[in-house]
Amino acid sequence: MEVCAVVMAAGDGKRMRSKHSKVVQHVAGKPIVQWVADALCEAGCTEQVYIVGEKQEEIRDVLGESVAYVFQEQRLGTGHAVMQATPFLEGRSGYTIVLPGDSPMVSAETIHAALKIAEDNQDFAAVLITAKAPNPAGYGRIIRNADGSVAKIVEDRDASPEEKLVDEINSSMYVFKTTLLISALGRLSAQNAQNEYYLTDTIEILINDGYKVGAYVCDFEDTMGINNRMQLMEASKIMNRRILEKHMANGVQIVDIDSTWIHSGVEIGMDTIILPGCTLIGNTVIGEDCIIGENTRLNCVQVGDGTTIDSSIATECIIGKECRIGPFSHIRPDSILKDNVTIGAYVEVKNSTIDVYTRARHLTYIGDSQVGKNVNFGCGVVTCNYDGQDKAGCVIEDNVFIGGNSNIVSTVVLGKDSYVAAGSTITDDVPPLGLAIGRSRQVIKDEWVARKNRLRGAHYIQLDRKRNEV
Ligand code: UD1
Ligand code: CA
Repeated sequence: MEVCAVVMAAGDGKRMRSKHSKVVQHVAGKPIVQWVADALCEAGCTEQVYIVGEKQEEIRDVLGESVAYVFQEQRLGTGHAVMQATPFLEGRSGYTIVLPGDSPMVSAETIHAALKIAEDNQDFAAVLITAKAPNPAGYGRIIRNADGSVAKIVEDRDASPEEKLVDEINSSMYVFKTTLLISALGRLSAQNAQNEYYLTDTIEILINDGYKVGAYVCDFEDTMGINNRMQLMEASKIMNRRILEKHMANGVQIVDIDSTWIHSGVEIGMDTIILPGCTLIGNTVIGEDCIIGENTRLNCVQVGDGTTIDSSIATECIIGKECRIGPFSHIRPDSILKDNVTIGAYVEVKNSTIDVYTRARHLTYIGDSQVGKNVNFGCGVVTCNYDGQDKAGCVIEDNVFIGGNSNIVSTVVLGKDSYVAAGSTITDDVPPLGLAIGRSRQVIKDEWVARKNRLRGAHYIQLDRKRNEV
């Protein structure tokens, strides 16, 4: 059965108050119109044409060349929008799915169910996707005959007081027999409250032709359209909850569904625990038995099994198995941490590879460097990778011990099994098994304090007296 889709996306989305097309705004990390395209593909409909308007470039950037586009020069209504697709539809048999481009909650199951009704009832010219709305104001209403069959759709502005009481609404999602859709579009007129060509009028036209129209009543949430920032937020929340539910069904423990945000492309292994306040975005992939959180943000990060990441931020990097990250670590792009690495408080890693069992527990910066196995960074070690002009890193070989508060100035090599004394500034290579001390020698001046009358105890007593006076 030939099935194609027309997606109406020419609206300029004024109510969104954005420089961008409404349909490229993101819901759970994916542009709204991409959700629609994906639902169609999942339902087996890859032949898609998008009716686009002024901001068409942004939509083309999102969907690419695998779908077709038609430019609607003037916005004369939803019927007019679909009319623009007539050259695309002509000569096709089978069914045309019509969807609004601003409704990301539409699912493949909904599309499937409506298609099935159409296929099972060959006397149906179309199947409407409808829903019972808690507050139907503003929507087109489904008017049914006494026997329950669909009679027509009336727009809110054209509805009589009795019609306004109907709570079954038009979602603006339809399945049409393609040839009958073309025939009805050719007969639309713009004589209504908004002087627009209403796609909804095709239903009455087809019924007057003697055809029947079916309806698939779906969950109202699945029809939700996005017109403003508030609805964008609400849809994001609903979508997020669905994503979290899917992960929980797969064995991921999410501690707090209200403070956890996971984008649609994220994968998480079984028995991993996500603590409150985490944001997992991009194509992040987390293994099994990990503990993530609280307040961790992972953007395009690969995390191996059994790793713990506590209150940290990581972006476009790879973290191995059984690593300990955080609290307050920052792992920046192009970093690779192999298995069993420990990165602790206020440690930043950028564009560096760190081999297994290496530890940097506190206040360290590792940039543009190659770090071997079982290296120990003391507190406050800095790889000085920037000379004000160029970036370059260091090579730190296996088993190196770097004492606290040392500067490793690029591009030195710290040889295998070597030591760096605490407080050193290292500007030359250190040979394997060697010890480098790069600091000035300590000087002692005996009795200096007494000679200079600089006893601090006296000062403290004075301070205390002053405070009591106040
Ligand atoms: C439409 C339906 C209404 C339904 C509601 C569901 C009609 C006449 N009314 O009303 O029954 O309850 O959706 O949300 O169809 N568009 C174009 N070109 C145009 C006009 C619209 O591409 O010339 C696109 C819009 O970008 C949007 C979609 O069509 O994605 C729906 O248009 P909109 O103006 O939002 O229709 P509603 O008044 O909401
Ligand atoms: Ca709308």
